[in-house]
Amino acid sequence: MNAIITGASRGIGRACAETFAVAGYRVTAVARTEAQLRELQRSHPTVEPLVADLTVSVPTGIYDVVILNAGYYAPGGLLDPGRDVFGESWELNVMANHRLARALLPPLLERGHGHLVVIGSSATDDTSAHMTAYGATKKCLRILYEGWERELKGSGVRTTLVAPGATLTSSWAEETPPPNILQPAAVAELVLRCVTEGLTGRVTI
Ligand SMILES: NC(=O)c1ccc[n+]([C@@H]2O[C@H](COP(=O)([O-])OP(=O)(O)OC[C@H]3O[C@@H](n4cnc5c(N)ncnc54)[C@H](OP(=O)(O)O)[C@@H]3O)[C@@H](O)[C@H]2O)c1
Repeated sequence: MNAIITGASRGIGRACAETFAVAGYRVTAVARTEAQLRELQRSHPTVEPLVADLTVSVPTGIYDVVILNAGYYAPGGLLDPGRDVFGESWELNVMANHRLARALLPPLLERGHGHLVVIGSSATDDTSAHMTAYGATKKCLRILYEGWERELKGSGVRTTLVAPGATLTSSWAEETPPPNILQPAAVAELVLRCVTEGLTGRVTI
């Protein structure tokens, strides 16, 4: 079985890459930072690095499992002066995932099996003011996911939207993390369970 995981050089995506590799998957790990992907490959030789900036290129290929995880977070409202976090987030959180779905799902549909996992966020349920820009992009991704879910229904291809709460990654570099924060490995274990146990729809953690 093979899986492609975007944003696999660190954080939740890296934990997913490690967890799926340990579970016996051949993992294509996508990110911009080659050194981190090579380091991941050294500890997990079945991981194949794919260096790509998803805002400008779209990986292709035939995979059993597609995990759309890469995302950008920075605190910011829509009207914040100086920094346009919404604009910065849009290309990766929305457009890149839209392009990836269009490129990677047709082979799954042709074969009539496979699993699409999208990493959403609890921020689409409860968006605090400083997260408006991020929450808006993740909400758009959630609506895209719901459309893909409808279009893939009955095709044999499973779909899951995993929506984590705060998780300790570099996304928290500019803020104080909450005390009950999740570890990336816990999210990765859930993603693996979704695939191995066939959990579909929106799954929160
Ligand atoms: N952390 C949280 O609290 C939290 C909570 C809920 C949901 N999430 C979601 O979980 C996902 C992962 O978040 P995270 O916190 O693990 O993020 P992270 O630690 O910031 O890691 C982001 C990953 O995406 C890659 N990436 C960033 N820009 C890219 C680009 N243009 N092209 C290709 N790869 C790119 C990064 O690698 P390079 O920089 O090497 O490219 C890195 O591997 C996101 O979708 C996020 O919305 C996170």
